Amino acid sequence: MTIKESPEAAARVLAHALEGEDLPDSFTLLGKEWSLHRGVFPGTITAATEVMASVLPYPRGGSFLEVGCGTGVISVTAALSGCSHVTALDINEKAVANTAENAERHGVADRVRVLHSDLYSALGPEDRFDVVFWNVPWTYVEEDFPLTTDLHGAVFDPGYQGQHRFITEARPHLADGGRLLIGTADLGDQERLERSAAEIGMRVELLRRVRRIEVTRVMEYRLLELTAA
Ligand SMILES: C[S@@+](CC[C@H](N)C(=O)[O-])C[C@H]1O[C@@H](n2cnc3c(N)ncnc32)[C@H](O)[C@@H]1O
Repeated sequence: MTIKESPEAAARVLAHALEGEDLPDSFTLLGKEWSLHRGVFPGTITAATEVMASVLPYPRGGSFLEVGCGTGVISVTAALSGCSHVTALDINEKAVANTAENAERHGVADRVRVLHSDLYSALGPEDRFDVVFWNVPWTYVEEDFPLTTDLHGAVFDPGYQGQHRFITEARPHLADGGRLLIGTADLGDQERLERSAAEIGMRVELLRRVRRIEVTRVMEYRLLELTAA
């Protein structure tokens, strides 16, 4: 089964993540305890959060932008890994509050700025980063697919419009030599990303792949980099 073939399966997972009676208000990952607010993508629902947090090339002493921060595991890990300025943003206001709480919880609130933002919309022209990253909602659905809850936007990307904008609107927010990275999986539609990249003279390179044996299949998590074509 792939989620690409079955948005219903993903919707069931979402319903549990939103409403499950047994959902705890915190979870353990990477040896730390993280607050979890209802309606935010839980960082343990797939291995993607842990994998990306572990393999990302954090710019030590530099700046890191995380688009779609969810509970904030990756942004907080970036700050703890030596990034001097981290900006974490999410379109879901609950994720913004959740990330702020986890930055506080792990003592990095002084260097993690958290914004409510649709992709780059809340950033100013002065906001440029050494690394820009998004652990994307990799499930392709048709453009008219309704994102009926906050969590739908964490899993589904109608028409891959979000990822298209992430790629094509990134340039003004990249510092000189800045890197544009995407966390996805073998369930994602890489051809669509390649088409978006080609529009701005870039191509998609596979930086890291990590396979995990999971209950229904072996998942391959992929860290991609957009580079000059
Ligand atoms: C797959 S989840 C990843 C969450 C978190 N980074 C993690 O790894 O656990 C994708 C995140 O992107 C956010 N998102 C979706 N569309 C967005 C947009 N247009 N602008 C900002 N964030 C967005 C979702 O709300 C969600 O938190």
